[in-house]
Amino acid sequence: MKYYKLLIISLIAATMLSGKKDVRPVYKDESAPLDSRVEDLLSRMTLEEKVGQMSQFVGIEHIKASEASMKASDLKNNTAMAFYPGFPIDSVISWTENGNIGSFLHVITLKEANYLQSLAMKSRLQIPIIFGIDAIHGNANAPDNTVYPTNIGIACSFDTTLAYKIARETALEMRAMNMHWTFNPNVEVARDPRWGRVGETFGEDPYLVSLMGAECVRGYQGNFGQDGVLACIKHFVGGSEPINGCNGAPADLSERTLREVFFPPFEKGVDAGAMSLMTAHNELNGIPCHTNEWLLKDILRGEWKFKGLVVSDWMDMEHVHDLHATAESLKEAYYQAIMAGEDMHMHGIHWNEDVCELVREGRIPESRIDESVRKILAVKFRLGLFEHPYADPAKTMDVRLCPEHRATALEAARESIVLLKNDGLLPLSPSKYKKVLVTGINADDPNILGDWSAAQKPENVTTILEGLRQVSPKTDFVFVDQSWDPRNMSPAKVEEAAEKARGCDLNIVVAGEYMFRARWEERTGGEDSDRSDIDLVGLQNELIRKVAASGKPTVLVLVTGRPLGVVWPAEHLPAIVCSWEPGMYGGQAVAEILYGKVTPSAKLAVTIPRSVGQIQMVYNHKPSQYFHPYVMKPSTPLWPFGFGLSYTKYDYSDMSVANDTIARGQSLKVSVKVTNSGKMAGDEIVQLYIRDCYSMVTRPVKELKDFARIHLGAGESKTVEFSVTPDKLEYLDKNLKPIEEPGEFIVMIGSSSDDSDLLKKSFFVQ
Ligand code: BGC
Repeated sequence: MKYYKLLIISLIAATMLSGKKDVRPVYKDESAPLDSRVEDLLSRMTLEEKVGQMSQFVGIEHIKASEASMKASDLKNNTAMAFYPGFPIDSVISWTENGNIGSFLHVITLKEANYLQSLAMKSRLQIPIIFGIDAIHGNANAPDNTVYPTNIGIACSFDTTLAYKIARETALEMRAMNMHWTFNPNVEVARDPRWGRVGETFGEDPYLVSLMGAECVRGYQGNFGQDGVLACIKHFVGGSEPINGCNGAPADLSERTLREVFFPPFEKGVDAGAMSLMTAHNELNGIPCHTNEWLLKDILRGEWKFKGLVVSDWMDMEHVHDLHATAESLKEAYYQAIMAGEDMHMHGIHWNEDVCELVREGRIPESRIDESVRKILAVKFRLGLFEHPYADPAKTMDVRLCPEHRATALEAARESIVLLKNDGLLPLSPSKYKKVLVTGINADDPNILGDWSAAQKPENVTTILEGLRQVSPKTDFVFVDQSWDPRNMSPAKVEEAAEKARGCDLNIVVAGEYMFRARWEERTGGEDSDRSDIDLVGLQNELIRKVAASGKPTVLVLVTGRPLGVVWPAEHLPAIVCSWEPGMYGGQAVAEILYGKVTPSAKLAVTIPRSVGQIQMVYNHKPSQYFHPYVMKPSTPLWPFGFGLSYTKYDYSDMSVANDTIARGQSLKVSVKVTNSGKMAGDEIVQLYIRDCYSMVTRPVKELKDFARIHLGAGESKTVEFSVTPDKLEYLDKNLKPIEEPGEFIVMIGSSSDDSDLLKKSFFVQ
């Protein structure tokens, strides 16, 4: 505090000494140091303006659409749409003009963004608006942007440079739309496939999630300025292991589990420079995350030294009062949230008045408000918003959907599709299978774009049917449309497909979940679409069985954000492909993989259990997990973490560790030879796991500690080297302090987390 006071005094003194009038305030001087600009501006702001900076609203067009489609009574439960009953749009306009709104979300056109910004430019201090948007896989929530695969697919590519590249391109497309803040990366570690949001995460492994998340942060933010956007690591924390699989349900997690599993990706995100964080809907061990001082003060700002701003999630401060009931009034909820460390409120009308009152009543010191406002202003300065409040409509489409970004979207789809089963049927031979039945709810639907995507122009989406026709033009594809809705499939259409299958040479059934936001109420996956089972919905199983009963080979293609326990298909069909939510070129990429134009390379970033009864099923479980296995049904997953087939064959040999024994603090070189002994070139994801054999605290049976994505031509061999650094051997002791314990470790290298796919060597730490 002293520092800031001194700074203000010296600024004022400098102005007086120079004898000049304050014609151009320091905060408007681009060449002035960031801190001076922030302090100068802060010193000019009224309390109302300060609290206004901490206030986010939904955009005007969003308000209009919500008013037309929902009732006020729906507001409490809806997390996608909102309006402000009793407050006409004119109020939002005048609040913006008066500098009482610092941020908007859900503004999805450049025209509206520039318009709202022009209102802010009329305000006394002309503090620009920062526009936030859920650009989860490209700026897909807005029309006419590149739509990449969702995070789960990117995680399955194990390609961290791809994650960076997509984030960088997304930042450019966002800035071309005057958007400055993405509510991504979601760095939650997904440990429950019932939860509908698995698709927006990087899967179940803390190490992989950490790396992917950190690359996204770097890619989005770049060096700030006009090319960067603010990244937001979310949701802090525990919502990805809800007690019942439902979004926002309580999380009951030990401090050990938090520190071992859920915290690392957030800490790495902070280390990568993330300047914003969103708190989670859920309560954690009895305390709502939004009022959790331990999380926000002790861990985030205390231990990790986070310097950015904390934003609440949708109506979650409200829910501290009206749902969790740990605050007797809304105003009390705001008080608790601010005192716990929240900096910005998403979204609503009572905030400004209540928070100003809390300050005037002396309950919240104004210095606490200043702390938050400093962070918000600093970000706005760093993003260059004061100098460049608008984006140029004439140039916007030079960036959005440009050929380079489209190429990345296609490449990403190719890298993220996992081949789960192949009895030799794939790649398909067009000369053998001339007439091919294509059916299933996802065969010809934009649902391949995935959750967090608006409807995009049809010419910017290649459905799977279109992709097949494009990639194998001579094949006669017979399409039986099952419509898009898995909950209301027509038995007659299922029969029609079964009938047509008899006259075809091969069947492709495109099944899975429905995540398309445009049909929010009908979805089976995605945000707020949690399920109590993980089987296919509706008549999809019947469709698969009836089509397969034709006796013609049947390929199953899954479009889904969550793992699906497709047990019958796994046992009876010759080929299964999981395309996740592959984005705008998903159809092309799926077809290229089916026809062998692309060799599949992706590996599962999540375990695929057989049924909900197996949950929690993760590869990095504790040694006793299956000591007494289930009776009658298997205790093994349908497909393990790290698993994915290819059209070529990779042989692992000559694994070596440089030393049998190392000293504490020393690194160990480990290597393995990987040979492509098949006939096609391809990429292999070489995985390294470690097990600590004996320890004071129980340790997982194995943990991913490194990986390498390598390209191998047919017949080519490469020796892959890894360095097992001391941090990879550490764990948290009984007092939750990091320790590298002496003793035996096993290092495992191979093509999946399954023991049968791993070569192993042991070594000792002295
Ligand atoms: C989600 C957040 C999202 C926000 C704004 C919430 O319902 O949980 O992840 O950023 O809405 O769309």
